Amino acid sequence: MLPELRTEIPGPRSRELAVRLRRAESRNVTMVGEHWPVFWERADGVNVWDADGNRFLDFTAGFGVAGLGHAAQPVREALVGQSARLLHAMGDVHPAESKVELCEMLAEMTFGRWGAGRGKVILGNSGSDAIEAALKTAVLHSGKPGVLVFEGAYHGLGYGALEASALEFFRRPFAAQLGRFAVRVPYPYCYRCPFGHGGGFALEGGEFPNCSSACLGDLQNRLHGEIRRREIGAILVEPVQGRGGEVVPPRDFLRLLRRICDEEKILLVADEIYTGFNRTGRLFACDHSDVVPDIICLGKALTSGFPLSACVGRADVMDAWPESAGEALHTSTFLGNPLGCAMALAALREHAKPEAAEQVRAAGRHLRGALRRIVSPRIGEVRGTGLLVGVEMVRADGSPDAETAGRCVTGALREGLLLLAGGRHGNVLSLSPPFAITPEDSDFLAGKLAGILEEV
Ligand SMILES: Cc1ncc(COP(=O)(O)O)c(C=O)c1O
Repeated sequence: MLPELRTEIPGPRSRELAVRLRRAESRNVTMVGEHWPVFWERADGVNVWDADGNRFLDFTAGFGVAGLGHAAQPVREALVGQSARLLHAMGDVHPAESKVELCEMLAEMTFGRWGAGRGKVILGNSGSDAIEAALKTAVLHSGKPGVLVFEGAYHGLGYGALEASALEFFRRPFAAQLGRFAVRVPYPYCYRCPFGHGGGFALEGGEFPNCSSACLGDLQNRLHGEIRRREIGAILVEPVQGRGGEVVPPRDFLRLLRRICDEEKILLVADEIYTGFNRTGRLFACDHSDVVPDIICLGKALTSGFPLSACVGRADVMDAWPESAGEALHTSTFLGNPLGCAMALAALREHAKPEAAEQVRAAGRHLRGALRRIVSPRIGEVRGTGLLVGVEMVRADGSPDAETAGRCVTGALREGLLLLAGGRHGNVLSLSPPFAITPEDSDFLAGKLAGILEEV
């Protein structure tokens, strides 16, 4: 259903709530401005209604959480059923049965499905939490503190995850308090090739760049060099960068990392918090390259709307953790919360259906096609895989154009379309809609964006 707007955006109720929020919430959490934000009241499928009764078409899925659609029925039913029985248990002391079932199911959907032995799980409450569980596992397993990470990476904002993240905006104010275990190397960002092999060309046809050999040779030398120079125990990588700008690397990139990790006997940790659960058109983005990581971090769409995450590793890797003698080394009050576990179990059953990935691939192809038909010198590249799609905005000289991206986001909001801007320079329109987005929805978005860009 296309948007239906009853008031100007934001409407009077949203504006009133914004004034109250500004007084009660710390600065630097919710941005409050003349045209921002609208306050969500309810959501269903691909639609969000705000406090003024305006209906928006959601091209964000709420930061990629609602791939199955907002308020997906099986997930809602699981939540309601569980809430009548048990809201909270003692996660690492006396847990609920649903924690057992969720750990089993996650292990089966990853290492079981890959035929790579047994998996074991540490649950958490946020993506950042899952990353930190993986970082701790890596040091316990290898005894080496160093972790190779990539430029443009986003792994969350807890201090461990933030040290591994490479977006300077988030790090700079807190740099003095960060650990120094992350070693940064370039990510194959083909539109702006960090190795100086071409770049600046727009990806036209397939989803994966195919200029792999030269840049991956350079990267291989760089990785081996860093591993020899420092005490590196793991490589942490997003198989497709999300907040870094929907950057799709060559297919061989992940295979190269797997080979290097095998040669150097270090761990490959895949951050699939954004890309997991069909977002990229395969159950996991690693599946595009047929690479099995040693650890995979999951969150966001795992529950369809409850703060729960998972670090899933091969059993022999996870067994670097000692048996608990009563005091867990890594836990939290809400670990394995029964509401979240019940929602995750229902969501995983949906994600596991084979038709889910095909739906995403078809919808993604249509969305990228519609966006590529927009004629505008401001669009440098439309890229993505599945329904993780980025539109890189550029100035005439090819430099990043964050201003135009920002104007597209606010312009779209006023047309009833929810989207975000991201990327290393804030110049990439970031699209990650629910999987049920229709061709008509995508065409509508493209039409509106074309109009906004004509006015810029
Ligand atoms: C790839 C990736 N890793 C980790 C995180 C952090 O997740 P959370 O915000 O739940 O801590 C995010 C969030 O956007 C992400 O995209």
